[in-house]
Amino acid sequence: MSTFYVTTPIYYPNGEPHAGTAYTTIAADVLARYHRLKGDEVFFLTGVDEHAANVYDAAKDMGLSPQAYCDKMAPAFIKLWERLNISHDIFFRTTSDLHKRGAQKFLNVLYDNGDVYKGKYEGYYCPSCEEFITEKELTDEKICPDHQLPLQWLEEENYFFRLSKYQDRLLTHIHEHPDFVYPPARRNELLNFLESGLQDVSISRASLPWGIPFPFDPEHIIYIWIEALSNYMTALGYEIESEQYQTFWPADVHMMGKDIARFHALLWPAMLMSANLPLPKQIVAHGWLTKDGEALSKTRGIFIDMDMDITTYGVDAFRYYLLREFSFGNDGDYRPTRLHARYNADLANDLGNLLNRVLGLVNKNFEAIPAPTTPGEFDDEIKEMAQATVDKLDEHIKAFAFDAALETIWEFVRRINRYIQQTQVWTLAKPETKPRMGTVLYNSLEALRLISVLISPFIPETAEKIQKQIGLSEFDTTAEWGRLPADLTVSRGEPIFPRVDTKHQKQAQPKKTAKPKQQKKTTDLVSFADFQKLDLRVARVLTAEPIEGADRLLKLQVDLGTEKRQVVAGIAEHYTPETLVGKQVIIVANLEPATIRNVESHGMILAGSGDAVVLATLETEMPLGTQVK
Ligand code: MSP
Repeated sequence: MSTFYVTTPIYYPNGEPHAGTAYTTIAADVLARYHRLKGDEVFFLTGVDEHAANVYDAAKDMGLSPQAYCDKMAPAFIKLWERLNISHDIFFRTTSDLHKRGAQKFLNVLYDNGDVYKGKYEGYYCPSCEEFITEKELTDEKICPDHQLPLQWLEEENYFFRLSKYQDRLLTHIHEHPDFVYPPARRNELLNFLESGLQDVSISRASLPWGIPFPFDPEHIIYIWIEALSNYMTALGYEIESEQYQTFWPADVHMMGKDIARFHALLWPAMLMSANLPLPKQIVAHGWLTKDGEALSKTRGIFIDMDMDITTYGVDAFRYYLLREFSFGNDGDYRPTRLHARYNADLANDLGNLLNRVLGLVNKNFEAIPAPTTPGEFDDEIKEMAQATVDKLDEHIKAFAFDAALETIWEFVRRINRYIQQTQVWTLAKPETKPRMGTVLYNSLEALRLISVLISPFIPETAEKIQKQIGLSEFDTTAEWGRLPADLTVSRGEPIFPRVDTKHQKQAQPKKTAKPKQQKKTTDLVSFADFQKLDLRVARVLTAEPIEGADRLLKLQVDLGTEKRQVVAGIAEHYTPETLVGKQVIIVANLEPATIRNVESHGMILAGSGDAVVLATLETEMPLGTQVK
């Protein structure tokens, strides 16, 4: 069996976890879940980096000992990971004895191999980065370029690690392993940094009150980054070379934000080279999240209100949005209005409605899931697309392209929505076409089962809900077509993404563009400005019924997202009321109200009108109320 070891950074517990840390952890969780799905033996580590100066300071501010403070903070992280459905195998703390002993052993190995020596260090230090700032980065103001906080001047006798000795080996390694650092832009940045020359690094701090003592000089504390990086091995049982350590080291993926890639891609591998240990296979650095275009900042009060958004939309919508919206290596701007739009369009409309519609038709027409006895047009195409989706997904996950991975799955979701339309399955209930109806519904449910498997690493709660509603008692993880038993009893189907009406909804509507200048009229043409006066909107038919004494008319109730309307439409000769319910249509929303055969009509439904009458609709469903231009 293949193994897969993935890690997040261990986070400083000097404050509550925030959306940036959640982002890294969710991405690592997707990888862990995906590899479990593929049958790999997975180990997923996350945890806290407790010996930081900022932790010591935060404890002092609270009047607690650093250890008591850490004991108080660790549960905040565990609680958030539970809420976000993180499937880690270990929550590791660097104040654990396992870590302390392992970190000391690691340092002894570096020392025994001749790569640790004593020297004098002086320079500007950023306590937030826990790093000396290089000459190149130093400004006249002596401010940390990342944190914008004043630097401290430090002078001390320190132990040093011979990082410079590994410069050439690091260069060779990165050149020979093009996938070692992801994304390529980060790799190039690191290569440039390496080529400009590496200096030895100070790895001890004299007589600090908080940290792990040097094994061979207890007056010194191990520099936090050295001990922190070693957590990836100490957590596995490096100290006693446990079976777990031998199974999982080296790590497959160290996942992190871009700011700490250098520690992981240069310092950590150099130490491992010194200790003659294998290097992690990939260092994956994502971009930073901003909020409405601004960097997150505690001091300036710019933060992402995860709690509110998860409470409003649910944890899966939050996970989905983070991974679908941003390209993983780049910075991404978090906007609640976009989360709202994705919730409505991708989750509630594309996926949620598909499930509801198919379950509704099965319930109405069959006792249990029908057997696929009657193949027909489009079936082979659907099956081929299912396999192609599985294959493409694998490629995207290997490239950490989570957004493309989700888009690939959603192309399949939308294809199944189209399959329902193309086969007009709701019209097939007559005895002679019922076997075909059963087959189309079976195929749609099997597609939904497969979709639930593919989405399970990203939105695991939803995946389970879908399989339960289909009637599977245990989660079936097979990503292959044709597994669905034909006799399951499906449930009534609660909406998996119920409508959310929030203040965001208004903002999520496309903004009206400024009116262009009036153009000169010619006889048969309307001006753009006149056309702009039409308010065309996406709506859904809620109910439809005949109007007494008017054979051509139907009375419809439609939902425009923000309001419901009654509309009269002259389509009764072409559509039966049942086939209209649930359909998305385009309506002229600002037409003067009219009374037709004593029935009020507040809008008009668009349709192609010739020998036949065919309702106008969008190629794929969109949020209700979307403007059509
Ligand atoms: N303790 C070190 C890591 C040691 S690993 C051996 C550390 N901790 S941290 O708590 O400051 O940050 C952890 C992670 O959060 C980093 O990957 C960082 O990139 C990420 N983020 C912090 N702010 C972020 C955003 N605004 N957006 C995305 N990720 C962000 O560094």
